Amino acid sequence: MIVAITGIILIIFVIGHLLGNLQIFLGPDWINGYSQHLRDLGPLLWAIRIFLLLTVIIHIYVTIQLAIENRRARPEPYIDRQYAKATFASRHMVMSGLIVLAFIAYHLAHFTVRITDARFALLKPDPLGHYDVYSMMVYGFKSYLVSGFYVLGLFLLTLHLSHGSSSFFQSLGLNDKKLTPRLALGGRIFAWLVFVGYTSIPVAILLGLVKAAQQL
Ligand code: HEM
Repeated sequence: MIVAITGIILIIFVIGHLLGNLQIFLGPDWINGYSQHLRDLGPLLWAIRIFLLLTVIIHIYVTIQLAIENRRARPEPYIDRQYAKATFASRHMVMSGLIVLAFIAYHLAHFTVRITDARFALLKPDPLGHYDVYSMMVYGFKSYLVSGFYVLGLFLLTLHLSHGSSSFFQSLGLNDKKLTPRLALGGRIFAWLVFVGYTSIPVAILLGLVKAAQQL
């Protein structure tokens, strides 16, 4: 139950953050204004950040606890283990989750604290006086290494979501012969939509479809 509820809160964040980021395709005014709007929330932004952080900590703590209990229930490994139904994604939830966590740590250092790229500090405010998040994203993703790492992180997030986004219905007691496979398919489609949405940003930048609003 706890994993399911914290998971759904994180999924809502992933959808909201994606919609916010896709504004890059509408131009600098949109995404820079949106980012400024978030910063203007002041103490409320901090309350949301702390709430999200606690949600992530609880989600991880309880899932790892569950994984340990599972292992304790059968200390000896199976000699020949055949999986009737479990998909690759469902069997590697702890691993994909921990790699996603490492990705988020890098992502925060990259775009929120901005300590990985010295050029970001040289960006001038846009004509409306907002920090130029638009150009920061363009300069950030122009590197194949950085973009490649994001795509890898997003792929693991997709694996994690493709199982997690439907299994929470089961955790909440909704288990039905007809409905469960449909929810599983829906979860996979949702996860891949998230992947396409997020990766469209570095891909569009690398293809030169989105260009920086200022030169450095
Ligand atoms: C291509 C993919 C992504 C892009 C372009 C992107 C872009 C950004 C940007 C520009 C910021 C800084 C916002 C600002 O300071 O105004 C940010 C913050 C953040 N991003 Fe992402 N993001 C991506 C993927 C993700 C993913 C997959 C997650 C989590 C699963 C995530 C979690 C966060 C978090 C937690 C913050 C900090 C929010 C805050 O407290 O200010 N991002 N992202």
